[in-house]
Amino acid sequence: MTEPLLSVRNLSVEFTTYGRTNAVLHGVTLAVPERSQVALVGESGSGKTVTMKAIMGLLREPPARVTAGEILFDGRDLLRASRAERDRLRGTAMAMIFQDPMSSLNPVFTVADQMGTILKYADRRLGRQRGRAGRRARVHEVLAQVRMRDPERVAASYPIMLSGGMKQRVLIAMALLSQPRLLIADEPGTALDVTTQAQILKLLKDLVEEQHLALLMITHNLGVVRETSHYVHVMHRGRIVEAAEAQALFAAPREDYTRNLIASVPRLTGGTSFATLARTDDET
Ligand SMILES: Nc1ncnc2c1ncn2[C@@H]1O[C@H](COP(=O)(O)OP(=O)(O)O)[C@@H](O)[C@H]1O
Ligand SMILES: [Mg+2]
Repeated sequence: MTEPLLSVRNLSVEFTTYGRTNAVLHGVTLAVPERSQVALVGESGSGKTVTMKAIMGLLREPPARVTAGEILFDGRDLLRASRAERDRLRGTAMAMIFQDPMSSLNPVFTVADQMGTILKYADRRLGRQRGRAGRRARVHEVLAQVRMRDPERVAASYPIMLSGGMKQRVLIAMALLSQPRLLIADEPGTALDVTTQAQILKLLKDLVEEQHLALLMITHNLGVVRETSHYVHVMHRGRIVEAAEAQALFAAPREDYTRNLIASVPRLTGGTSFATLARTDDET
């Protein structure tokens, strides 16, 4: 068997604030194979974002401290890698999609400027040469990939000129710029209305499949899991309490906690699903 692209093993993290130490992750283990769509689901406060930050190297230490575990990406242990190596991987081989378009885009720069800057730094980290025109072409190409009908117009826009759904697509485009192998999405589209969120999730799933990426979908919403993921890890109070194929998990959850989580999902009536809602070639 080949190693998964991302493997988190026995990860424990604690936070110390005002002299008090709280353990937040207790031996978290999860794996994301190449080209797979994996979910990390759990209620608010269960430790999902802390897990994501640990993977991406975004935990501030202190107040955080990793007390145990390994995070292997492509066989390399990130927790023992040099700062430079982690910086090189972040935003290149692994990229994340930010949740909140409002606070993740800079209002005073155009989309082209912001994406161009990200690309410039990614190129630099990878030791790649690409001129201004090359960057511009790549920005337009990626905006077209996220189904923008008029990439040049979007590129020339300031964030305020774009709808919420378009801003979220720009954030996805930013994550795709450097052709990552792993995308991590932490509650994507939560700031959007449900129809637009459904379209964004469908787009994300389509892109991941087209570009053969691995996806780690982080969400509190089992409806999102059902629509986007093949394999699920259920997190509760900093522990993975159940991990299974999505279909098996929904059909026959083994843990009481998972059963209750599934029972608490509101049912959509009339068989409406993301698939029927989603038209991704629209500029919503
Ligand atoms: N910077 C921090 N300082 C102290 N505690 C934190 C910090 N960030 C997160 N925590 C704690 O870690 C736990 C998990 O948080 P988080 O990973 O953000 O949950 P979620 O599953 O909603 O993403 C929470 O109990 C939270 O209070
Ligand atoms: Mg969170």
